[in-house]
Amino acid sequence: MIEVRNVWKEYGDQVVLERLNLTVKEGEFCSMVGASGCGKSTFLRLLLGQEQATRGQILLDGQPLPGEPDAHRGVVFQRYSVFDHLTVLRNVTLGLELSRAKFTGRLFGAQRRRARDEAVAMLERVGLGAAADKYPQQLSGGMQQRLAIAQALMMKPRVLLLDEPFGALDPGIRRDMHELLSDLWRESKLTIFMVTHDLKEGFTLGSRVLVFDKVRVDPQAPGAYGARITYNIPLDRSRESVSAVHLAQAAVQGASSFEAISD
Ligand SMILES: Nc1ncnc2c1ncn2[C@@H]1O[C@H](COP(=O)(O)OP(=O)(O)OP(=O)(O)O)[C@@H](O)[C@H]1O
Ligand SMILES: [Mg+2]
Repeated sequence: MIEVRNVWKEYGDQVVLERLNLTVKEGEFCSMVGASGCGKSTFLRLLLGQEQATRGQILLDGQPLPGEPDAHRGVVFQRYSVFDHLTVLRNVTLGLELSRAKFTGRLFGAQRRRARDEAVAMLERVGLGAAADKYPQQLSGGMQQRLAIAQALMMKPRVLLLDEPFGALDPGIRRDMHELLSDLWRESKLTIFMVTHDLKEGFTLGSRVLVFDKVRVDPQAPGAYGARITYNIPLDRSRESVSAVHLAQAAVQGASSFEAISD
């Protein structure tokens, strides 16, 4: 479904990402880990179409990625994309209204009721049914994050891009969110890319873990080389093989030492 071919991203003379190659099938859940500043969010923005690769190509179903974000790609960034002046329900219907009523941004009559019903169902799904008339400020962090996820899922994206979506949540809520996301993923053919700083989270949720790391470092010129995908670890979710996870974790821990990379 998604093919990343020799992608580079440079800002001025700073190389952020270099020689990325990756093939992802529909329905995969790619966890992405790596040191701070190594270009994970940048990679998400490339997948979103918000930014263009300086070299190389990203293909979606064999076609070059559309140059602009569209409804096929939903996003949840760590800073929630919810609007404070709109109720929870309006926040969730807004995307539908904007896409279905391009000029006025408002739906009427039967269309409006349908959008509303879809939104209510989605809010139930993420456990916010009772909070439909509240404003985001009246919600806890975990509830706001669920709202952001509901908002993204409403557009029925094929690809969901998550940038440290649970970083700000406490452990209990985090676990609930893990379950919710796993369920949503299993029920649909959703393809997910999720950046996380939490290795365990990456391995628990993902069907594949991608490790971003700088292989070459020139102390005289910190911007000369970019990060690459140094490990691409498929996880066998069906068998929940514990030993495979341990092996993979060992591999990630070794990722910072300089290892040969095979393309
Ligand atoms: N618009 C931009 N213009 C110039 N440099 C940028 C821009 N966006 C990102 N960078 C640089 O690219 C590098 C990678 O940034 P990015 O945000 O992708 O890292 P990250 O892996 O997501 O880090 P973190 O884990 O801290 O979120 C950083 O050195 C950053 O300064
Ligand atoms: Mg980031």
